[in-house]
Order: sequence, then structure tokens, then C-alpha cells
Amino acid sequence: MALSDLLILGRDSDLGSERGVSCTGALPEASDPQLIERAKSARAKLGSRALILGHHYQRDEVIAFADITGDSFKLAQAAANNPDSEFVIFCGVHFMAESADILTAPHQKVILPDLAAGCSMADMATANQVAECWNALEKIGVASKTIPVTYMNSSAAIKSFTGENGGTICTSSNAMKAMSWAFEQGEKILFLPDQHLGRNTAVLSLGLSLEDCVLWNPWKPMGGLTKEEILAAKVFLWRGHCSVHGRFSLDNVNTVRKMIPGVNVLVHPECQHEVVSNADVVGSTEMIIRTIDGASPGSAWAIGTELNLVQRLAKAHPDKTIAFLDKTVCYCSTMNRIDLPHLVWAMESLVASHIVNQITVEPEIARYSKMALERMLAL
Ligand code: 13P
Ligand code: SF4
Repeated sequence: MALSDLLILGRDSDLGSERGVSCTGALPEASDPQLIERAKSARAKLGSRALILGHHYQRDEVIAFADITGDSFKLAQAAANNPDSEFVIFCGVHFMAESADILTAPHQKVILPDLAAGCSMADMATANQVAECWNALEKIGVASKTIPVTYMNSSAAIKSFTGENGGTICTSSNAMKAMSWAFEQGEKILFLPDQHLGRNTAVLSLGLSLEDCVLWNPWKPMGGLTKEEILAAKVFLWRGHCSVHGRFSLDNVNTVRKMIPGVNVLVHPECQHEVVSNADVVGSTEMIIRTIDGASPGSAWAIGTELNLVQRLAKAHPDKTIAFLDKTVCYCSTMNRIDLPHLVWAMESLVASHIVNQITVEPEIARYSKMALERMLAL
């Protein structure tokens, strides 16, 4: 393979932005030459009434209008700590906006500019499936010793289950703290819904063995496990994963090491265990940014996370070699649903006192979810 087969970003290459959404109906046309001016004007009119939060995987055109950018943990903190803005426009995905609604004050309204911005991983654990799993653990007599630890990437209903059953939420930046806390409260952990973050944290950060962790398959009776396996397990890993991070492979790591001598492999903990075990640095999106910001000029990095972020890092650091860990392009299609036309539409609607795409979590679900989220913020 030639060096040109790797996706080296920055300086001479720019993949441009891919538009997956056609803007119809009330949305401005993406080709509207006035779009940026319209965005600036609506933003100015909203002033301090609106706070725009932008996850690091958002497109550049959206990040340009974010008041605060961050990983899921930082954005949850931002939502909890800014009670003065009437509107929180969340440029991210649905579960993040739900968490923001739970953490903001009652007078604040959380807006998700495109309701189709979901997360395929969050959809891999439904409330019914989790209730069935818990019933099975109760029948075998281990539920009372099991603490649920639920990744932020989950529906409010699953967060509520977690709060009600004495568990906590975690993000990729505090999963180790959350799991350590859970082992102080009980003997076993039910980790939902990302098997990779759960396994990587249990094995690589807490020193458990791979055998201590068993996979709970929600499509099989008793998770596809025997009673003996359930009794012996320390961590039940829900069978969910991220389709974006699941693409990175050990082969990618080995190839990049051959192609770029001295390269540092930097990955998100949602990657598969064999990728994370063979990486040099592992961390949340915020940590990935901090690592590249602090890296020496001339150093080389192959990054395994969503492509909008990797491209932005490459542009911001022309003094470093920054490659995308996979050979092929890999955006998070749901994060990419939020584009400038949707943001302009949401802001102009709010300026016209028309509230669109408000995310509200039912009070009963919000009550226990908040408990679980606040346990996380206090960790
Ligand atoms: P971070 O919390 O690291 O930003 O990750 C969120 C996410 O969805 C990664 O796929
Ligand atoms: Fe969900 Fe993966 Fe997209 Fe993150 S990158 S929002 S986990 S689908």
C-alpha cells in the first residue's frame, strides 16, 4: 500500500462537507448565498436568550456558531450551569438534548435543530429489553448485587431505570470513575449500552479479566448466558456498539504503524478492544483535542474517531501529521444531520417566537434520570 492510500488530512487535502440532507419545506436552501448572514442575524437577535452547544462531531459550519463546544460530559455540565438562557440550542444528538432538558431549569427550553439526529448505539437498548434483563437478573438472585452503569449514549428511559436502581450515568471521560464507584456499591455491574466502552474500561483501566465480563444479548433468553455464567460474571456488557467507531480495526492500526514510522495512535474508547489495547492514547473527544493541542510540532498522529473532528484537528495543526485511522471516510451520519440550514431555521423560528423541535422528557422519567445524571456530575 502506498502512503497516499492513507487518509492524511490537512495542508493539501480537504474532503469538504458532505450534505446528507436536502433542505425542503420551511428550511432555508443549503445553497442560499445569504445563509451565513441569516445565521449571524438570527444569532444576534436571540442574544443572551439563547445558548448554542456544539458537540465536537458537528460540522464546521455549525461549530462556527457554537458558544460552547465539548464532549458529552462538558456539554452536560454546560447545560446544568447556564440557567440564564431561555433556549439551549443543542447541536448534537437526541440523547444529549434529552440530558440537557433533564439538567436545565424548568423555565429553559432545549431545541434540537433536526429531530432525526439520533444515535444508533442509543437505539440498541430499549426500555423493555432492559426491564427483561433486570427481571432475569432478579430471578437468578443477582439484581440486588448489581449496579447499572449507563453510558450517556442512551435514552432518558434507560437513564431513569439506572437512577431508580441505584446506578449512575457515565461518559467516555469518566467511565473508570463511574465503574469504580459502582464496585463500591455492589458486586456486579450492568454496563449499558456500549459493550466496547464497558469492556475497555473494565479490563484496561480497572484490571479485570476479559472472562470477568460477559456479553448480554438482549435478543436471547437470559441474555444468551447460562445461570453459572451469570453468577460468575463481574460485568454484564450490553450487546451494543457504535457503528462509526466499530469500523476501526487492528488491521488499521498495524497498517498505519507501517506507513508512518513513529506515529501515535489516538482512539476513542468506543473502538473495539483490540484497537484500544493496541493504541498509544485513548480518550474522549475533549481529551483527543487536548492531546493534539499539546503534541510537539512534527509529531504524527493517526486518530480513530469521527471524521469532522479529525479534519478540524488536521486544519488547526498544519505543523503535525494527522491521519484518519481508517482508509475510508467515516462521518457520524446522525451528528451530520444538524447543518446550517437546520440551525438557521431553528434560530429564525425562535426569533419569530415560534418554538420548534423542543425536546422534553416526561417528568416521571426525568426524576430518576436526573438522579443518575447528578450522581455522575458529582463523581
Ligand atoms: P464524547 O463524550 O467523547 O464526546 O463521545 C460522545 C460520542 O457519541 C462518541 O461517539
Ligand atoms: Fe452515536 Fe456513534 Fe454517532 Fe457517537 S459516533 S453519536 S455513539 S452513532
